[in-house]
Formats: sequence, C-alpha cells, structure tokens
Amino acid sequence: MGRLEGKVAVITGAASGIGRATAQLFASEGASLVLADIDDEAGRMVEGAIRSSGGRAVFKHVDVSVAEDVKSMVEEAVERYGGLDILFNNAGVEGVVSGIADYPEEQFDRVIAVNLKGVWLGVKYAAPIMARRGGGSIINMASITGIVGYPGMSAYCASKGGVIALTRAVAVEYAERNVRINCIAPGTVETPMTRRIKSSLEKFPELSGVFAKVSPMGRPATPEEIARTALFLASDDSSYITGTCIVVDGGYTAQ
Ligand SMILES: NC(=O)c1ccc[n+]([C@@H]2O[C@H](COP(=O)([O-])OP(=O)(O)OC[C@H]3O[C@@H](n4cnc5c(N)ncnc54)[C@H](O)[C@@H]3O)[C@@H](O)[C@H]2O)c1
Repeated sequence: MGRLEGKVAVITGAASGIGRATAQLFASEGASLVLADIDDEAGRMVEGAIRSSGGRAVFKHVDVSVAEDVKSMVEEAVERYGGLDILFNNAGVEGVVSGIADYPEEQFDRVIAVNLKGVWLGVKYAAPIMARRGGGSIINMASITGIVGYPGMSAYCASKGGVIALTRAVAVEYAERNVRINCIAPGTVETPMTRRIKSSLEKFPELSGVFAKVSPMGRPATPEEIARTALFLASDDSSYITGTCIVVDGGYTAQ
C-alpha cells in the first residue's frame, strides 16, 4: 500500500521541476491530486502522464498570488475528492538577477506576491478546512536563500526568509488542531528555474561565485530528492514534526 493511500493532496507549481516530480511521486504513493499552475499546457501534460500510469490527478489553472484562485483550488479538492489532507505550496518565481540599486520595484512586488503571499493564501484557505477534517500537512517551499544571502537576488531571498518565518507562525497557530505546517529549504536543484538563473550569471558575476561551489557534495539536488522530502513531511512518518524547516542542500549551509 502506498504511503499516501486515501489522501487528497494539492500541489502548486505542479507543471515543472520540483512540483512535477512531487506530483508523480505522490500519485505513485496513492494520493488523489489537484495540480495547480499558471502553465496550462505543461500542467495538462503532467495530469495526462499521471492518469496514464493509473494515478488520480486533475489540473487546475491557478495563479497563487490571486486569492480567488487559491480559494477555488482548495474547493476543487473538497468537491472532487471529498476533503483535503496535504497542501504543497511549491509555486515560485526567481525574479531577475540584479543588484538592489537597479532591481525593478515591480519585480520585487511580483516575487513577494507569488513566493510569499501565495504561500500565505494557501495556508489561509487550506488550514481551516484541514482542521475541520481532524488535521493535515502543509509543506511550504522555502530555500537556503532564506537562510544565507545570495547576491543579486534580494527579492527572492526576502521572500524565502518570509516563508520560513510564516511557517513558524502558522504552525504554532494550528498545532492544537493537528495541522502540521513545515517548510523545505533546498540548495540548488536541477530544474528549469536553475537553468534560467544560470543563464543570467554573465550579467552578475558576484552570483557566479555562489553557483560555482554548488555544494560540498559537488552536485545539485535532483527534483526527486526534494520530492522525497516533501513525501516525508506529507506522510504520517513526520507526525510529530511541525514548524520546522528541513534543509536539503548537500551540506551547503554547513560550510
Ligand atoms: N531550483 C532550485 O534550485 C530551487 C532551490 C530552492 C527552492 N526552489 C523553489 O522550489 C519551487 C519550485 O521551483 P522549480 O525549481 O521547480 O522551478 P520551475 O520554474 O521549474 O517550476 C515552478 C513552477 O511554478 C509555476 N508558477 C510560477 N508562478 C506561478 C503562479 N503565480 N501561480 C501558480 N504557479 C506558478 C511555474 O509555471 C512552474 O510550473 C519554487 O518555489 C522555487 O523558488 C527552487
């Protein structure tokens, strides 16, 4: 029997990278899924791949920075599958790579809206529904950039630091109601986002240095390695863990 048999999970940013790998893993462990993303074409492909291998998944167009979208994403899970047990607030954007003096203000607003407000909205609408059902698990996507500074990524770092603090606050708020809320802080992961950031390194050499020493393990993480951490936090194996941040960085922040 799968580790998420009978569970209902919503994954944001499910069309690519870490979200897609997690969707595939959760489906193979028996969860029924709502796949949320702004990329309809790629999202429907993930939906199709999961269904053709016998899993249960439905794609829904959701912009996590829009309250109405997030609310209807949670309602979709409840209406289609009868409840919600797991939410992976994974959707995120990197913004531009630029020194703060030249960083466009509208890019700052967008990065905060998706990476921080999007997570806040997810918790806001999902946690009460989970509490009414007797509990649940919410996993928020942070990053080691919320713990250590990355030059040229001021908005992104601020958004991820915010996710870590937000996670603690709401975990304490919902602990008695058995809704566990944790976050994951990956180092560099081999995904389209990382490829986009790397392609802009020439414009900002200070950041190249950070990426040059990717981790003491000498390689980036695979999306599947992050998905397995999400599975641990989603499953009852982590039943006494709440309000924490699991760093998955091959030793980067241990240096
Ligand atoms: N790749 C890394 O090295 C790394 C490291 C640490 C943390 N993260 C975080 O992991 C998460 C996933 O990143 P990834 O590397 O898989 O990136 P990715 O770009 O491959 O996937 C991100 C997905 O989020 C979706 N998305 C973007 N804005 C959205 C919005 N407003 N509403 C709904 N969906 C939206 C995109 O369409 C895409 O499918 C992000 O929060 C990212 O910040 C990534």
